[in-house]
Amino acid sequence: MSEPLLGLEALTLSFVQGAGGLLQRGRGRFTAVDGVSFGIGRGECLGLIGESGSGKTTLGRAVVQLIAPSGGQIRFDGTNLTALPPRALRVYRPRLQIVFQDPTESMNPRFTVEEIVTEPLRLLRLGARAEWRTRALRLLRQVGLTDAALSRPPGHFSGGQRQRIAIARALVTEPELIVLDEPTSGLDVSMQARILNLLRDLQGQFGLSYLFISHDVGAVSYLAARVAVLYRGVLVEIAPTRELIARPAHPYTAALLGALPQWVRGRDRAAPPSGAPPVSAAGPIGPGCPYAPRCPRALERCRAQRPERRAVGAAREVACHNPLDGAA
Ligand SMILES: Nc1ncnc2c1ncn2[C@@H]1O[C@H](COP(=O)(O)OP(=O)(O)OP(=O)(O)O)[C@@H](O)[C@H]1O
Ligand SMILES: [Mg+2]
Repeated sequence: MSEPLLGLEALTLSFVQGAGGLLQRGRGRFTAVDGVSFGIGRGECLGLIGESGSGKTTLGRAVVQLIAPSGGQIRFDGTNLTALPPRALRVYRPRLQIVFQDPTESMNPRFTVEEIVTEPLRLLRLGARAEWRTRALRLLRQVGLTDAALSRPPGHFSGGQRQRIAIARALVTEPELIVLDEPTSGLDVSMQARILNLLRDLQGQFGLSYLFISHDVGAVSYLAARVAVLYRGVLVEIAPTRELIARPAHPYTAALLGALPQWVRGRDRAAPPSGAPPVSAAGPIGPGCPYAPRCPRALERCRAQRPERRAVGAAREVACHNPLDGAA
């Protein structure tokens, strides 16, 4: 089988606890992403879900080389990027882009839209300067904005329009993979749908691969045929989105989906297990499954031994000693 466009192999990201106490509990190192492996094929969208603090943004930032991993590999188009010196990495930077949740935070309010959209070209010294404006204009049209937008500051636009500008900026380097970090969660429902439609159109048009980060399974199911579930930095389940929603295998996935309205879950899905609310986790992770302390199905073994990820069915994998019935 050929290698996927993006391949994470045991990716780990840990932070040293600062003197200012960024972390409330524990001392020393805090592991935000813990041995995560998955692949994304060309033109594929993989969803990444998990509650707040599960490590989604940290993982996404590592994929686009904004932060360096503490361990493991990020392979892109056959090359291990984590082993490359900065000079060699430059070649790959235009090929990987990111769209953040809050476009306002990532835009200089004093810049014009033209300057914002062409900023990656300037920073990465790409293409001929004379062509930058033409490129920006073309992209603005492609994301549904008029030519007049070019000379205006970002403050002139609504949240949805600013997200369109952020998408144009991500596209300007002609990337092959874009990390979408909660691109619609700051928007109202109708604007969310329009931005999701736009992202889907652009994906088809340019053959893009997406890593679509969200805590909204409904939004994920719209774009992603496959989804990975992160719990405290650990990938606990990866499966085709439909199957995962209809029959979650990991008790944490079930608890996470339990917060969803019925129309997203589908009619045939059993009720989620009780006593397993997807609340923020606390305390250090022991030797066992990170979810064991709040899992209603936890066995003695779950507290003692970290479950390996294993296949259940054709295209899904779960890291659980006692997965839910009907998943196999
Ligand atoms: N630079 C850093 N230094 C220390 N800890 C960090 C740093 N960046 C992230 N963390 C911690 O890593 C964990 C994962 O954070 P991250 O932002 O990746 O979660 P997330 O899944 O994106 O959450 P959300 O859904 O709220 O966006 C959190 O506990 C966070 O406090
Ligand atoms: Mg985040």
